[in-house]
Amino acid sequence: MTAVIRPSTGAAYSKLLGVGGYRPKRIVTNEELCTWLDSTDEWIRERSGITERRWAGDDETVVSMAVEASRKALAHAGIAAEQIGAIVLGTITHPFQTPSAAAEVAYLLGATNAGAFDTSAACAGFCYGIAIADGLIRNGTSEYVLNIGVEKLTDFIDKTDRGTGFIFADGAGAVVMGPSAEPAIGPTIWGSDGSQRDVIIAEPDWVTLRREGGDWPVVKMQGQRVFRWAVGEMANVCRQALDAAGVSPEDLDVFIPHQANMRITDAMIRSLHLPEHVVVARDIALQGNTSAASIPLAMARLYENNEVHSGQTALLVGFGAGLVYAAQVVTLP
Ligand code: UT7
Repeated sequence: MTAVIRPSTGAAYSKLLGVGGYRPKRIVTNEELCTWLDSTDEWIRERSGITERRWAGDDETVVSMAVEASRKALAHAGIAAEQIGAIVLGTITHPFQTPSAAAEVAYLLGATNAGAFDTSAACAGFCYGIAIADGLIRNGTSEYVLNIGVEKLTDFIDKTDRGTGFIFADGAGAVVMGPSAEPAIGPTIWGSDGSQRDVIIAEPDWVTLRREGGDWPVVKMQGQRVFRWAVGEMANVCRQALDAAGVSPEDLDVFIPHQANMRITDAMIRSLHLPEHVVVARDIALQGNTSAASIPLAMARLYENNEVHSGQTALLVGFGAGLVYAAQVVTLP
């Protein structure tokens, strides 16, 4: 006889309850960068919108930065670490093959009741995490979920590479998500295109490195190909997320795209015909591109600058190595 299994039942909806970020102490200006990179302040500003970036020191690790960002998000949400039922941590730069960063973060936070795991969805990691957390809360697996995006990209770039050395940076951002009586997270539009795996790739892989020797793996990026893909496809992904949520560009208050390049953000705004009143996150100017951390860090800065408030409607979109992408409309915490 087949036993009847009682399924888990969760909240009707989920929502964002709090956000927090951690920025490394060291500020690296374009001027300083150009003492070792063959470039200029003017070129970097014009082509990427970056004026300075944050780079982590030896004492600032993927785990320590994630813990700091999470503490702030928990405080903003008014939730204790023991209430967290799951930690979803997006990163591509945790320097341990195993165990996960998430399990250590849970331990250090005192999140003693949390299942914890890392995801590898690069610059879409945070938006992937929102979809996962929404599911965990609504199916009843977890009441509260910590969704973290964290990167220490400076461990995995060649700082003299003109294609990546000026753009990538370090940091962490986190949100607490929990149950809601009202809808506050729209459907996630996501996808992947592994046929373009080579356009952003950390090489060599560990096995090749062990077998053949060679240099430490660093992220290599075919910038123009990624740029064309992002500008060509991501506005359409945003439109689908807006349509799926039943929200028009006029209804939108805030746009928080992955902080890849200011020119990509501007191209998406034009393509989406976003009205003037929409507040746009431009964190990249002072932070650089922090992959999975970029969206929650950008969100945190909007609060610090009093540019947004709780209850506003925001469109999020992440895209990067894989290639992968994800977008959704959310109510701000
Ligand atoms: O976060 C993950 C997703 N990543 C992205 O979305 C990044 C997408 N790509 C980009 O943001 C841009 O491709 C970059 C900012 C990385 C590069 O900008 P670009 O406009 O695509 O530059 P480019 O590679 O087409 O190079 C343009 C020119 C070239 O000179 P010529 O051939 O026109 O004379 C390059 O040699 O600029 C030169 N160049 C540089 N000059 C000064 C390339 N890199 C540099 C540099 N400094 N660092």
